[in-house]
Amino acid sequence: MLNHFKALKITDKVYWVGAIDWMIRDFHGYSTNRGTTYNAYLVLADKITLIDTVKASHKDELFARLSSVIDLKDIQYVISNHSEMDHSGLLPEVIEIIKPEKVFTSKPGFKNLALHFKGIENYLTELKEGEEIDLGNMNIKTYETRLLHWPDSMFSYLKEEQILFSNDIFGSHLATGERFDYEIDSQILDYEAAKYYANIFMPYSQLALKLMTKIKEENLKIKYIATDHGPIWHKYTDKIIEKYTNWAQMKPAEKVVIAFDTMWGSTEKMAKAISEGVQSENVQVKVMPLGGSHRSDIATELLEAGAFIVGSPVINSNLYPTVADLLCYIKGLAPKNLLCSYFGSYGWSDKAIDELGKILTEDMKQVIAVDPVKIQYVPDAENLQKCYDMGVKLAKQLKKE
Ligand code: FEO
Repeated sequence: MLNHFKALKITDKVYWVGAIDWMIRDFHGYSTNRGTTYNAYLVLADKITLIDTVKASHKDELFARLSSVIDLKDIQYVISNHSEMDHSGLLPEVIEIIKPEKVFTSKPGFKNLALHFKGIENYLTELKEGEEIDLGNMNIKTYETRLLHWPDSMFSYLKEEQILFSNDIFGSHLATGERFDYEIDSQILDYEAAKYYANIFMPYSQLALKLMTKIKEENLKIKYIATDHGPIWHKYTDKIIEKYTNWAQMKPAEKVVIAFDTMWGSTEKMAKAISEGVQSENVQVKVMPLGGSHRSDIATELLEAGAFIVGSPVINSNLYPTVADLLCYIKGLAPKNLLCSYFGSYGWSDKAIDELGKILTEDMKQVIAVDPVKIQYVPDAENLQKCYDMGVKLAKQLKKE
């Protein structure tokens, strides 16, 4: 059979052998509008080494790309940088077919892989923090990156080729026919990298900041950052490290994100009036109606924002389900340093709108910087003026920060 899946040469000794998932549109709650890739890499050292595998559904693609370069049985080592199934799902079959001498993984990786796949323990070799793997004519130094974003995550750094195999870190959910950063539209590249950080790494920002500092202190020479999703960084390696350093600090920016849903248009009118107030202070505003904005895109906007205003109508004495969904998701991402407020329209009980304040302050540990606005049924001109004033006040406070 014609093998149309080919490996892609990165350097004379290293190939990309991953899979492109053009179809996926949801990745555990994260909208992947542009698909994704599951990157795996082949190192042609004396000990031929496969770094990570792919999602089990893409088995044929991995094996075909590997076979375009070598005989599968020549692979001696496998390195598993992370046990999540999009990278390890094919590990049991890789072990069964290739029968590698060793499968290297971090200490937590050993435990997690054994919990995922019964019976592979005998192949696993646990690495100590910072341990090097001798590939004969090359060396891979490993670095634990615990909780970035799983306890088992680690980096593998191939010294001779100056390639950092960074696993999920620096990734993007972006399926393209191009493999390198410089080949891709920079706006798309930047947005998808930010979206990935916001939705995967934001809760671990303190650890991310420490890791970025460590990369700089170690003075690692990095020609390529070979991440496990999306493009390989080559032209912009320094830029993406700098971006992670900035995102991890979650410094407030002069931007207000207004997220809301609406039942009969009242909450929408309020959102518009608030946004006009923000704009009157020349502060950037992003209005995100939940009828057309995905929670993961709102998280992305919050990454470089300084204020977050949430609006909800009341239905059956409760928050609108889309708003509750959003806050449940954003709470898990633990954004910091946001000035907050809330608003909404109700029929005969406004208690559910106050629930927004409780979630923002008690659950999300944010500050209510401006009093909320609650309107019965339909806002009139006076009510809308209150909304406009809320936008003005919040924008002014943001400028003072
Ligand atoms: Fe791409 Fe955490 O797996």
